[in-house]
Amino acid sequence: MDRTILDLSLTLRTIEEMHDRLIVATVLQLRSNGVEASLLTRDVNITNAGVVPILWHLPPEQKMTMTTPTETYSPGLEGVIAGETAISTIAGGLRYRGYPVVELAEKTSFDEVAFLLLHGELPTTAQLADFNNRLATAQKLPAALSELLTKLPKDAVPMDVLRTGVSMLAHYDPDLGDNGAAANLRKAERLLAQIPLIIAEYYRATKGQAVVAPKSELGFAANMLFMLSGRAPDAFDTKAFDVSLILYAEHEFNASTFAARVICSTEADMHASIVGAIGALKGPLHGGANEKVMDLLLATGGPDQAEKWIRDALARKHKVMGFGHRVYKHGDVRARVLKEYAKQAAQRAGTTQWETAAEIIEKVMETEKNLFPNLDWPAGRLYHAMGLEVSLYTPFFVASRVTGWAAHVIEQLARNRIMRPRGLYTGPEERQVRAIAERG
Ligand SMILES: CC(C)(COP(=O)(O)OP(=O)(O)OC[C@H]1O[C@@H](n2cnc3c(N)ncnc32)[C@H](O)[C@@H]1OP(=O)(O)O)[C@@H](O)C(=O)NCCC(=O)NCCS
Repeated sequence: MDRTILDLSLTLRTIEEMHDRLIVATVLQLRSNGVEASLLTRDVNITNAGVVPILWHLPPEQKMTMTTPTETYSPGLEGVIAGETAISTIAGGLRYRGYPVVELAEKTSFDEVAFLLLHGELPTTAQLADFNNRLATAQKLPAALSELLTKLPKDAVPMDVLRTGVSMLAHYDPDLGDNGAAANLRKAERLLAQIPLIIAEYYRATKGQAVVAPKSELGFAANMLFMLSGRAPDAFDTKAFDVSLILYAEHEFNASTFAARVICSTEADMHASIVGAIGALKGPLHGGANEKVMDLLLATGGPDQAEKWIRDALARKHKVMGFGHRVYKHGDVRARVLKEYAKQAAQRAGTTQWETAAEIIEKVMETEKNLFPNLDWPAGRLYHAMGLEVSLYTPFFVASRVTGWAAHVIEQLARNRIMRPRGLYTGPEERQVRAIAERG
C-alpha cells in the first residue's frame, strides 16, 4: 500500500472544528493532483506543541467516483467513512472500546460487555452488581404490551413482533421526551432488559404457554433461555449462548447501526432509532442471515448431498447465506470463535451431520468463490443444535446488538450533524407537465 504524508501543520485548537472539512478538502486536493486518495484509513499523530501531521493511506484500488468537485459516489457506500466512532473498530481485528472481541468472549460475560459498550469501560464487581440490579428492576413489560403479545397472530414473524413491541414501549418510557445522554442511557438499559421479555412472552404465547417470570440472578444469557423454556440452561449452553451474544453485540457502521445513526441524526429519539435498526437487521443480507443459514443446511438434505447442492446453488447464482462480508474479505474472526461452540453443541445434541455438511459447504465456497463464513454461519448452527427455533435467531441478535445500537445513538447525538447524502440522478431530463386532460 502506498502512503502519502501530508504535514498540514494545524494547531490543536483548530483541528477539532476543521476536522471534517479538512478530510474532504485533503482528499479533493489529492485527487485534483491526479492521486487516487481515499478515506479508508487515517492515523493522527501529535508530534509537538500543537502540530498535527496527518498520514493518508492510499489503497491501490479505488472504488469511489467523483461526481462534482465536492461529491463522490460509491454504490452501497462501500469504502465510505460515514462518521467517527470510539465504540469499536475492525482495523487490526474487531475490538470493542479497545478490547479484542476474542478476549472478551474468553474472559467476560455478555453482561460485562453490555456495560462496556454502554458505559465505556468494563465494570468493576460493584458496578456490574448495580447494573444487573437496574436491569432486574426494568425487567417488566407494560400490561398492555403483554396483552398485545397474546393477541397478535400466532404465525407473525418474531422480528416483526419485536419491532412492534419496541415501538410500543416508547409510549410507556418515562424518559421518552428527554434525548440527553443520561436519559438515553437509562432508556438503553431498559430496552436491554425488556427486549428478552418481548421475545419470550410472544414465543410462549404462540405455544399457548404461560409467561415465565425472569430470574435475573441467572445472568442475561441464561435468563433469556430460561424465559423461553422454563428451564435453566446448563453451563455449556449458557456459555455458548453468552459468547454468541458477545460476538453479536457491536460492529461499527453496519447497516442497522448506520440506520440507527441516520434516524437519531434528525434528533429523533432512542426508541425510534432502535425500531428502525430492528427493521434493517431483519433483512437476509444482514441479521436475517442467521435464520436462513439453518434453512439452507436443512435444504441440502445432509452431508451426502451437500456438495452437489452447493455447487448447483452457485451455478444458479444463489446467494449462500452465512458467507461473504462487506468488510471481511479473508474471513470473520467471530465465525472462527463461534464455530467451536457450534461443533460441541452438535456433538452434545447428536446432530453432527449438519456440522459435516457445513464443512463441505465451507470448502466449496472457499475454492469456488473465495468466500468465507461470517458470524451467522456458526450462530445459526449453534442455536439449532441447542434446540432453539429458527425464527428466534435474529431476535437473539437484536437482544445483543441493542447495546451497540444504543451506544451509537448516544455517540451520534453527542456530536451530531444530520445525515443527508445526495443521490446520483438517473431519471428523465427536465420536461413539461401536461394537464391531465391533455394526457388522454
Ligand atoms: C454480506 C454481503 C451482503 C456483502 O455484500 P457485498 O459486499 O456487496 O459483496 P461483495 O462485493 O464482496 O461480492 C462479491 C461477489 O461475490 C458474490 N457473493 C458475495 N457473497 C456471496 C454469497 N454469500 N453467496 C454467493 N455469492 C456471493 C457477489 O454476488 C459478488 O459476485 P459478482 O462479482 O459476480 O457480482 C454478501 O456477501 C451476502 O449477501 N452474503 C450472504 C448474506 C449474509 O450472510 N449476510 C450476513 C452478513 S454478516
